[in-house]
Amino acid sequence: MTAADGRFFAPAKVNLALHVTGQRADGYHLLSSLVAFADIGDWVTARPAAEWALSVNGPLAKGVPTGPDNLILKAARATQGPPAAFTLEKHLPMQAGIGGGSADAAAALRALRAMDGRPLPDGPAAIGADLPVCLHGRAALMTGIGDIVTPVDPLPPLHAVLVNPGVAVATPAVFAALAQKDNAPLSDLPDDAGTDELIGWLASQRNDLEALARSIAPAIGVALARLSATPGCALARMSGSGATCFGLYRSAPEARDAATTLTAAHPDWWIRQTSLA
Ligand code: C5P
Repeated sequence: MTAADGRFFAPAKVNLALHVTGQRADGYHLLSSLVAFADIGDWVTARPAAEWALSVNGPLAKGVPTGPDNLILKAARATQGPPAAFTLEKHLPMQAGIGGGSADAAAALRALRAMDGRPLPDGPAAIGADLPVCLHGRAALMTGIGDIVTPVDPLPPLHAVLVNPGVAVATPAVFAALAQKDNAPLSDLPDDAGTDELIGWLASQRNDLEALARSIAPAIGVALARLSATPGCALARMSGSGATCFGLYRSAPEARDAATTLTAAHPDWWIRQTSLA
């Protein structure tokens, strides 16, 4: 998605369910995940420049690396095209399980393509495991290590609240401590599911990283309990390797009320109402 002012949208990704199905010889884990995208995210712009550069602004800019380790610059350099200067308007928390770095990199690659028509880099999953699904940008099944993206039919409306209890979780630490790595993949997504049917199906799936992430960062358990206790919360689960959790609601007003209640009780948490698609 692009705004008229040349900014490219980098929506948060949410793993509605995530099963860990194996591990490759190189250490990467095999996943089976249903991913959806929020209507909130970061914004990226690109312009031709003599050297690669990145500047970051926005409410959550603090601490975002601007050097070559930033996924925007890693992905952009991998195109092997001429350098560009990027600005990143940061609204999503970092190391939060909602794909911020990969979402930003995907938006940067779209911005470069719009700038000079350059193709996407080869093997984007090696840059960020969430980069392929973020390049796809709409609900999909993610398998392999994240490199296989299978589109799904548009999901019915999912009203959600995202809650990050203010702890950064390092993805490698969660994967490294995982004992059970050979779980079954997600069961088949029901065809033409309405909201209730989809939520019912999701309730029969899991996030296999959730229990471990909770033991590393107990605030995740608190966030899940608080979400579950809000009126109308049909499902509360962690996204990715955490710490961001989501609650699903059948209506936008229920989600809005939940976000308001949670924000009043936890003013230090990052809490956003959104819809997922
Ligand atoms: O690519 P991304 O930054 O999401 O991955 C961070 C780390 O998480 C990887 O270096 C790897 O240690 C672990 N990971 C994994 N299997 C995946 C995705 C990530 O083991 N499918």
